[in-house]
Amino acid sequence: MTASSPGAVRRLRDDVVGRGLVEGLPGAFVAGLTRFGRPPEAELEALGAAVTDLARRLASGDVGDGDQPLLTRALYVAGQADLLAPHDVPSPMYDVLGTFRENLARPLGPRLAERPTTGRRWRLLGRTIGFPIGVPACVLNGSEAWVRHNVANGWNVLTYKTVRGRAHAPNEQPNWAFAARETASLAPGADADVVADPWDWVPPGSTTVSSVNSFGVPSPAPEEWMADLARAVAAVGEEQLLLVSVMGEGDDLAADFARTALLAQEAGAAVVELNLSCPNTLDRSAGGVKPPLCLDADATVAVVEHVRRALDDRTGLVAKLSWLDEQRLSALVPRLAPLVDGIAGINTVQSRVRRSDGTPTFPGRELAGLSGIAVREPALDLTRRLVALREAGGAHFDVLAMGGVTDPASFEALFAAGADAVQSAAGAFADPLLAAACVAALGDTLPRSVEAP
Ligand SMILES: Cc1cc2nc3c(=O)[nH]c(=O)nc-3n(C[C@H](O)[C@H](O)[C@H](O)COP(=O)(O)O)c2cc1C
Repeated sequence: MTASSPGAVRRLRDDVVGRGLVEGLPGAFVAGLTRFGRPPEAELEALGAAVTDLARRLASGDVGDGDQPLLTRALYVAGQADLLAPHDVPSPMYDVLGTFRENLARPLGPRLAERPTTGRRWRLLGRTIGFPIGVPACVLNGSEAWVRHNVANGWNVLTYKTVRGRAHAPNEQPNWAFAARETASLAPGADADVVADPWDWVPPGSTTVSSVNSFGVPSPAPEEWMADLARAVAAVGEEQLLLVSVMGEGDDLAADFARTALLAQEAGAAVVELNLSCPNTLDRSAGGVKPPLCLDADATVAVVEHVRRALDDRTGLVAKLSWLDEQRLSALVPRLAPLVDGIAGINTVQSRVRRSDGTPTFPGRELAGLSGIAVREPALDLTRRLVALREAGGAHFDVLAMGGVTDPASFEALFAAGADAVQSAAGAFADPLLAAACVAALGDTLPRSVEAP
C-alpha cells in the first residue's frame, strides 16, 4: 500500500489536532530524530523547519494529500505512528525508536477487516496451507499479538522469532535502521559496506527498501515465551503454518539447541526452525560479533543431528542458513538433507555498517545484518542452488526462501526458482499489506497448488 485514500490526510489532521499534538510535534520530531545521534546540522535544520511549517499548517487546516509523506515521517519519528493506520495512511510495521519490549505488544500498521484468501491451497512441510507467503523469524513475529496481526493481513507462513533457552536482553539501541542508500541488490557474495544513519527514512510502501539490524536475538525467559507461543499456536487457522525459530548458546551448543527446541515443541510448535545463521551474536572476547554458525559445517551438522534426535518424529525441522558460497553450500546440504524437513534462507547478510560520519551505526558493533532489496540477488542465487541440490540429491526437503521480497514480482521470482514458501521481513516492515498485494496479483495464477483437502 503506497497511497492513502482521498481525504485521509485531512482526517488524520483532524485527529492530530483533536488530540492536542500539533504544538508539540516539531519538538517531538527533533527529539526522535536525534535520539541515537545527531544528523548533520544542515539536514537537521531543514527537516526541523519543514515539520515546524507543517505543524503551522496542521493548526490552520491548510494541508492536503501532498503532505502525506512528511506527515507520515513526522508522526512516526515523533512516536505517534499508531495514528496513521486508523486513517488509512500507510505506516511501517515496527517502531524503530521504541524498545524491543514496547514493540512486542504493539504491532503497527493496518489490520485488514477481511483476511485476503484465494480459495486455493499449497503444500508446505507436510501440511496444506493458503497462499504461501509469510513473515520469517524476526521482531515482526515476536509474540502472539504479532502473529494475530500478520494472519489477519494474509501472511500464512509465520516463523515465531528466534527464542532461547534463557532470557536474553537485546543489544543496546538502536537495533534497527533503514539503509536508505541501499536501493539495489548486491551481487551474491559481494562484501557489503553499508552507510546507514539511525535517522534515515524510507517511506512506507517503498519497494526498494533495505534495512540493517543488530538486535542480538533477544529472548524472553522460556516461561514467558512458551505461554505466549501456546497462545500464538492457537491463534493460527488451518490455512497457516506457524514455525518456531530457536537458537542455542554456551559451551555445549548442540545440547542447548536441543533443549530449547524441546521447549518449543512442548509449547505446541509443529515445526522448529534452527537459527544457524545469526549475524548478530556478540563475541565479547573479540570485542565484536561472531560469524554465522553455518559457516562451520561440522558444528552445524552436530547441532542439527542433536536436535533431530531429541525431537518427536512428528515435529518438523527446518535449518535456516545464511548465503553460502558454492563450495560451502554443496558440502553442507547433502549432510543436512537427511536430517531436516526444510531448509530456509537467507538470513541477513553480515555487513560492515557505519554512519555517514564513519562511526558504527550500532554502537560497539561494527557488523550487523543487512536485508531487503540489497540482498535480493543473493537470496535468489542461494534458492536456485538449494533447489538444484535438492534435485540432485536423495533426500527431499522443502525450501523456505526469503531475502529482498518487497513486491509481487520479487515474491514470484523466488517461488518460480522452486521455493515452496516465500517470506519477507524488510518488505513487510515497509509494507504490512504486501501479502495482500501478492494474493491480489498472483492468487489465481500461482502454480503448484493442490486440491483442497
Ligand atoms: C529486524 C530483523 C530481525 C531479525 N531477526 C531474526 C531472528 O531472530 N532469527 C532469524 O532467523 N532471522 C532473523 N532475521 C532475518 C530474517 O528472518 C530474514 O532472513 C532476512 O531479513 C532476509 O529477509 P528480508 O530481505 O525480507 O528482510 C531478522 C531480520 C530483521 C530485519
